Amino acid sequence: MDTLEVAVTAAKAAGCIIRDAREDIRQIRHKGAINLVTQVDLAAEKAIVDVIAEHTPEIPVLAEEGGGASGSGTRWIVDPLDGTTNFVHGYPSYAVSIALQVDGCLEVGCILDAVNGRVYTALRGGGAWCGDQRLAVSATPTLGEALLVTGFPYDRRERIDWYLSFVREFLIRSRGLRRAGAAAMDFVALATGTVDAYWEFGLSPWDVAAGILLVKEAGGRVSDMDGTDINLDSPRLLATNGALHTEMAQALMVLLRSQSREI
Ligand code: IPD
Ligand code: CA
Ligand code: CA
Repeated sequence: MDTLEVAVTAAKAAGCIIRDAREDIRQIRHKGAINLVTQVDLAAEKAIVDVIAEHTPEIPVLAEEGGGASGSGTRWIVDPLDGTTNFVHGYPSYAVSIALQVDGCLEVGCILDAVNGRVYTALRGGGAWCGDQRLAVSATPTLGEALLVTGFPYDRRERIDWYLSFVREFLIRSRGLRRAGAAAMDFVALATGTVDAYWEFGLSPWDVAAGILLVKEAGGRVSDMDGTDINLDSPRLLATNGALHTEMAQALMVLLRSQSREI
């Protein structure tokens, strides 16, 4: 089994657990004031880690709930259930996200839409795919014609004005802004050309690893908000269809410079 097959097998195992538990979410714990984890997150993560351990025991794993491999060497990066708040409330946007990084470079990405079972995959240099359909970002040329997505980190109660200043700016300058509540699905929306750009503060490696590769392989661009290479450990994420990248980065930089707080 190659590593892409391992990722897909693991994601499907987690997807079955998530689907079967939809009507039976019992153990909701708080990791923070509004940051939830359920027994389903934990069971899905165990299923993924078991598949990985069976097929690639030599590769360490960084997983959201269990921690593990830090740094940026060779590792699997796993979010067993992205969009837990949506899942708990029955809002249909949540996913499994698995990536393989080799010597610091993202090589394999797999996002499983856990609502409908669709599997999105990317291999570095091999394109982004959903089944036999190759994915491509949109060609929207300007921010004024663009539909954007964003998300709000779990520290938003403490930093509400900061986050809202970005929302305000892009609500004015874009055609529209959506917030669906699962970073992995935001990347899918960008990679499939449904939306044109995505920004978010404070995401973790498991939120972004697979999605970054998916968007890049669909022809998009991903960077720090200032246009430099993204650091998975402290992402100020900007992902676009490429055509919008400079315009979005410039708008973000103006906002970042005009505020006293830096993230
Ligand atoms: C969260 C979702 C959400 C994003 C948060 C993430 P989780 O992941 O991706 O869209 O805004 O920052 O932490 O906690 O549901 O795995
Ligand atoms: Ca997540
Ligand atoms: Ca999660």
